[in-house]
Amino acid sequence: MSTKWVVEDKENKNVFWPSDEMKKRAWLSDESFYEEGKADPVKFWEKRAEEALEWHKKWQTGYEQDKDKPWKFKWFLGGEINASYNALDRHVKAGNGGKEALVWVPEPTDEKPKTYTYKQLYDEVNRLAGAMKKLGVKKGDKVSIYLPMIPEVVVSMLATARLGAVHSVCFSAFSGESLRDRVEDAESKVIITADGYYRRGKPLDLKKNADIGASAPSVEHVIVVKRTGLDVAWDEKKDIWYHELLRDADDYCEPEFVESNETLFLLYTSGTTGKPKGIVHDTGGYLTQAYWTTKLDFDLHDDDLFWCTADVGWVTGHTYGCYGPLLNGVKVLMFEGAPDYPDAGRWWKTIEEQKVTVFYTAPTAIRMFIKFGDQWPKKYDLSSLRILGTVGEPIDEEAWLWYFNTIGGGCCPVIDTWWQTETGGTLINSLPGVGPFIPTVAGRMFPGTKHILLDEAGNEVEEGQSGYLAQVPPFAPGMLRGVYKNEKKFVETYWSRFPGYYDTSDGAVRREFDTIRVTGRVDDTMKVAGHRLSTAELENAINEHPLVRESAIVPKPHDIKGEVPIAFVMLKDPSKASDGLKKEIVKHVDSMIGPTARPHEIYFVDDVPKTRSGKIMRRILRSLVKNDPDMGNLSTLMNPECVDELKKAVGFKEG
Ligand code: PRX
Repeated sequence: MSTKWVVEDKENKNVFWPSDEMKKRAWLSDESFYEEGKADPVKFWEKRAEEALEWHKKWQTGYEQDKDKPWKFKWFLGGEINASYNALDRHVKAGNGGKEALVWVPEPTDEKPKTYTYKQLYDEVNRLAGAMKKLGVKKGDKVSIYLPMIPEVVVSMLATARLGAVHSVCFSAFSGESLRDRVEDAESKVIITADGYYRRGKPLDLKKNADIGASAPSVEHVIVVKRTGLDVAWDEKKDIWYHELLRDADDYCEPEFVESNETLFLLYTSGTTGKPKGIVHDTGGYLTQAYWTTKLDFDLHDDDLFWCTADVGWVTGHTYGCYGPLLNGVKVLMFEGAPDYPDAGRWWKTIEEQKVTVFYTAPTAIRMFIKFGDQWPKKYDLSSLRILGTVGEPIDEEAWLWYFNTIGGGCCPVIDTWWQTETGGTLINSLPGVGPFIPTVAGRMFPGTKHILLDEAGNEVEEGQSGYLAQVPPFAPGMLRGVYKNEKKFVETYWSRFPGYYDTSDGAVRREFDTIRVTGRVDDTMKVAGHRLSTAELENAINEHPLVRESAIVPKPHDIKGEVPIAFVMLKDPSKASDGLKKEIVKHVDSMIGPTARPHEIYFVDDVPKTRSGKIMRRILRSLVKNDPDMGNLSTLMNPECVDELKKAVGFKEG
């Protein structure tokens, strides 16, 4: 595409602004929404909810918040809505059933991409919903979805939502144990899974993991999509093939309209302690934010093809791989495989072949492609691209500029979206027709939402200073409504440090042009290749190994993944330390959580630094793995002598 969408700042300060052409095309190119949102955020979102969605029944009250318990807030009270109706029926009824909704690119290169029109997707969702209804799934029931990146994952989410039931998607690379934890917590009646999927050319058996999840007592049925044809274990009492179920299903299933604040989905995410928590998202508020952030962040128009590379197992895949684009009636691309299979040109080839216009990925992927070399993207015609997005962790300047220049040809704005599983949709990023686009700076607050930066004492910081990022009420419509079955954790985690505000657990800096630069987590979680990982969860998993006495996990910077977990492991019998045991611990983590949580390095040590009350001083371990000589004050430690031993273990270089 020859059009120059962005122009560089004249002063050459790496501050980019939209061109006039970009402004002309964009849904939003001025301050109108920002001003409207500032003047009356509730009215702003009420207007947006009306424009975005078809409501079965209009709400009576826009927003309500408990005076003493600010975490008890509701949007669009009394309104009735159905998510699948809005994603599909609406477009079909408007005569757009023939429009393409989804193109699926399978990993094997000898398999052709498969396209679904809105009507085809509608038909399949109706059939699956009807079949699940016959199996006894009804409003409020939980359905766990443990599927790879195949179209049936979107069909399953929408079919569940059609029944007013609640989906809980579990990332397919998570272990069977992880699935079982989630199924047990949610008390899911049904699991939808597959016989397997392709990864790097090989079919992998997913069913054997799903069966571990299916051993949870609440599970009545396991619906299995045939993807690979692998010979999988079969339980006649519970297991049903997806295609057989659909074959006998009715063509139409009436959508169940639910009150706006009823739950659309649960999504489990890592916290600072113990097991992952089930983040609760409502229906009307979430859909409103999903619709508007997708439309405005990526300036989506009718002829766009949107590719969000995130797996549907993560929130990004929920909002920008499924709900957001479909609500907007736009075509979305789904890719099954590994980004570098069969070679490092696979993504760029896909963009060329499918003519992707909007591409949304994570900094970790960008850094990986920088390492592979420019020859890969240079081989392909990427001129269909119009807008680039990034999410999941702070993006460094080098990666930003490479993405902008090498992938976007210097023409596409890079939309650096800050948000979280908890926020449901993006909250801080600049918009394509408004700007500014500054490397490493997420950008402006989404219209109708407000964040502030606070110091330890809860006072707002000045421009240029860093602080804790907190959200100001009225809370954005897409915000979480709870931690499933655990209000105590909900209140403690998000609403205690700064009373009256939502605590994001991120640090940030206020920058020029009303922008915010998010610097990263300030709690004991880390971002590994963009995935949130809890140090406590990983420690718990390692500690469950019979030979382990205790362990401590800290993040270490990594040039592609951003951060990787480093494990300090203390054995019950130190003489058992061996490379074989390291491998065993890694295997143990794979089975307890999944390969995404694998420790990058394991050090067997006798002791780790502790306070006099026995608390592990992770700060010192963090400095050790970074080879940072500034370890702070060691005099308060119970066991300062262990630091020298640890230095030897990690190969610390003095001076
Ligand atoms: O630390 C922030 C980081 O990712 C965290 C949220 O992780 P998760 O719930 O897994 O959701 C990821 C996808 C929405 C945040 O607390 N983060 C996300 N996006 C950015 C970011 N940090 C800096 N810049 C971003 N654009």
